[in-house]
Amino acid sequence: MIDSPTDQLRQEHELVLMVVEAMALEVTFIERTGRVHADRVAQMIDFTRNFTDGNHHTKEEDLLFPLLEERSASAGGTVSVLLSEHEAARDCIRAIEASLPDAERSEAARGVIAENLKLYAYVLPLHIGKEDTVLFPLSERLLNDPEQEMLAAEFARLEEESGAGGQQHYHELAHTLATPPGGA
Ligand SMILES: [Fe+2]
Repeated sequence: MIDSPTDQLRQEHELVLMVVEAMALEVTFIERTGRVHADRVAQMIDFTRNFTDGNHHTKEEDLLFPLLEERSASAGGTVSVLLSEHEAARDCIRAIEASLPDAERSEAARGVIAENLKLYAYVLPLHIGKEDTVLFPLSERLLNDPEQEMLAAEFARLEEESGAGGQQHYHELAHTLATPPGGA
């Protein structure tokens, strides 16, 4: 039996949080050494763009959230807060990406990277906590079994379109990033 759609999203949160932890560790490294692990930060951007936004947030924004908004006004209020947090998180990633090419020679660029990694690592666990403890239980109450099965099928279709091999790659990347680099 396949996992319910909310259980799938919860499992994806575990991976996102592994990368968030790696981001927090990178902030400590930058502040301590004045250097940036540029390759690791590039991998964090890749993971966030293609897994967190490209897969996980797309399932939420295109499939789960509209369904809940249709069903319940109170879910609609929660969803609009969650959407604005997704957008704030994307802003952080855009700022990090824009500064990364200058990280080696510019202290200001390193500062922007550290600040935005820190903000992302602050916002995301709170955001994920809200989804896990408020939105997903509400979804489980609002959607009956056939609706949940339909949503799970839509999730599977979305993953197929984005390439299942890609998903495996990002699972592995989360585990790679969760391992602190030598010298961190
Ligand atoms: Fe989420």
